[in-house]
Amino acid sequence: MSDRSGIFAGNDPFVIAKTWMSDAQESELNDPNAIALSTVDAEGLPNARMVLLKDIEDAAFVFYTNYESAKAAELDGAGKAAFVMHWKSLRRQIRVRGLVSKEEGPQADAYYTSRSLKSRLGAWASQQSRPLSGRPALMAEVAKVTALHGPSPKRPPFWGGYRITPVEIEFWADGAFRLHDRFVWRRPTVESAWDVSRLNP
Ligand SMILES: Cc1cc2nc3c(=O)[nH]c(=O)nc-3n(C[C@H](O)[C@H](O)[C@H](O)COP(=O)(O)O)c2cc1C
Repeated sequence: MSDRSGIFAGNDPFVIAKTWMSDAQESELNDPNAIALSTVDAEGLPNARMVLLKDIEDAAFVFYTNYESAKAAELDGAGKAAFVMHWKSLRRQIRVRGLVSKEEGPQADAYYTSRSLKSRLGAWASQQSRPLSGRPALMAEVAKVTALHGPSPKRPPFWGGYRITPVEIEFWADGAFRLHDRFVWRRPTVESAWDVSRLNP
């Protein structure tokens, strides 16, 4: 892979991902950390929705959500997920596929505590993905949990993180005349060493 230079250079895909994310934080209009998270349901029907990537760790990607949501059922059922992030300002894309585990320990508590009080109470109030009779019912729920949990609510047991540990990460950058650059990092298991290949655009 001698021609893997410039923005694709390096021996660690997580370092490259962190660098691209910080580039995007400089250039993107909003939500540079938005990812389209893809799951499959019990019938194998794919699903996708945006979530915010909260952490690129040394060996995984972490986001937060409701553990009783549709996506949580799909994540827990399959144990696998994929996501893509695309930055229009940079004309770059990162794709990730991997294994999923929950982050429901001190790290989830710390992230929950870092959020605004309204967001913390919102997490308590929303029965994410389940039917809602109307906005007033949601507002009544917010009032109820506000009275119940006060100014420093604990992290709800049904809300926390998911960690995606990849077996595949692809870095893509726009090239002239659609001759884009693509480098995919693959490994057979999450313990194996990475193998990097350049792909046709
Ligand atoms: C830019 C953006 C960021 C979002 N971030 C999150 C998030 O971090 N966590 C989350 O649970 N939902 C987030 N959502 C809402 C989800 O897209 C989705 O509507 C919700 O999680 C329910 O999905 P589900 O029914 O498939 O579980 C976000 C939506 C958008 C448009």
